[in-house]
Amino acid sequence: SRVVKLAVIPGDGIGPEVIAEAEKVLDAVTAGSGVTFERTRFALGAGRFLETGDTLTDADLAAIASHDAILLGAVGGTPGDPRLKDANIERGLLLRLRFALDHYVNLRPSKLYPGAPGPLAEPGDIDFVVVREGTEGPYVGNGGSIRVGTPHEIANETSVNTAFGVERVVRYAFELAERRRKKLTLVHKTNVLVNSGSLWKRLVDAVGAEHPDVAVDYLHVDAATIFLVTNPGRFDVIVTDNLFGDILTDLAGAVTGGIGLAASGNINPDGAFPSMFEPVHGSAPDIAGQHKADPTAAILSVSLLLDHLGLAEQAARVTRAAEDDIAARDDSPRTTMQIGDAIVERLRA
Ligand code: NAD
Ligand code: IPM
Ligand code: MN
Repeated sequence: SRVVKLAVIPGDGIGPEVIAEAEKVLDAVTAGSGVTFERTRFALGAGRFLETGDTLTDADLAAIASHDAILLGAVGGTPGDPRLKDANIERGLLLRLRFALDHYVNLRPSKLYPGAPGPLAEPGDIDFVVVREGTEGPYVGNGGSIRVGTPHEIANETSVNTAFGVERVVRYAFELAERRRKKLTLVHKTNVLVNSGSLWKRLVDAVGAEHPDVAVDYLHVDAATIFLVTNPGRFDVIVTDNLFGDILTDLAGAVTGGIGLAASGNINPDGAFPSMFEPVHGSAPDIAGQHKADPTAAILSVSLLLDHLGLAEQAARVTRAAEDDIAARDDSPRTTMQIGDAIVERLRA
């Protein structure tokens, strides 16, 4: 029998609420399977910071890194909370994990499941994956401010794009496209961001030459937002930088039935570090503690986790159970727990 060491970071707000349901599903789908998930919980996030002043200590990071995989709810407080320095938790915890564990592929699938309450009148078939670069771009923290508070303040955030970093994520995206419908769209803003745009374009062309059967196209990010609403069915694999990928995947979540359904994986494909699975959404302070959060995104993140660990059959069962639950939804409101329990019931059936 196999033991998987799983680090669980429930986090803040609705994070612990959705992770409780995700763990129920993990328990149900692995019961009697010969695979045991040995879990370590890490109480990290805005709550921990307010209590102790710590975001993620070196010891926390080392302990997390010794696991096989990570499941995370969401971290961060109410935007603008004066007790939390802006970006403290996001940068010091979430981004530190993604960078330190070299999660260079931020995998964000978007699928319109039958019955999902999408906002589009004629959505067509929506089934694409955003391969968002996870370790570079404007997220790196290469910048700074001078003359702060004066009329001459200068505030810089430099987008970092390395040939190494772009090539590896582009390669991953092409390999994924080969296993899917063989279509890859580069999204960037080459008409304005000429330096990084040129690098991305050249590397997509170069790696694309090794994949002649993958059809490649390019969209500026502003136009990509149009097509995500008017014709999302045109997309198969989208490859893009860290910031564009962040924005596009909230939009993608919204057009496929809501952010409560959108799952993600922060992947280290080389396997040198544990990969981390989490919903695309945040801690939702506006609904936290009200049992209103949809745990489906966290549950589908468990499916991505299982898939990543080579447990394809269990992954498919989780996705199927969530899909069936979505298909059976009507307008009656359900609590976070009721949705989790219903999905567990379907797994047991
Ligand atoms: P958010 O995703 O938390 O919330 C945006 C909107 O979506 C809110 O109205 C919320 O109620 C709704 N929503 C989110 N998840 C939902 C769910 N499962 N079911 C139903 N509705 C849901 O984004 P925000 O308000 O911009 O951010 C709140 C905090 O979360 C901030 O501190 C932010 O930095 C942080 N954040 C963390 C992560 C993460 O940990 N991965 C991701 C995004 C935002
Ligand atoms: C996400 C979040 C994070 C991001 C923030 C909280 C740092 O929005 O996971 O999409 O921008 O990557
Ligand atoms: Mn985001």
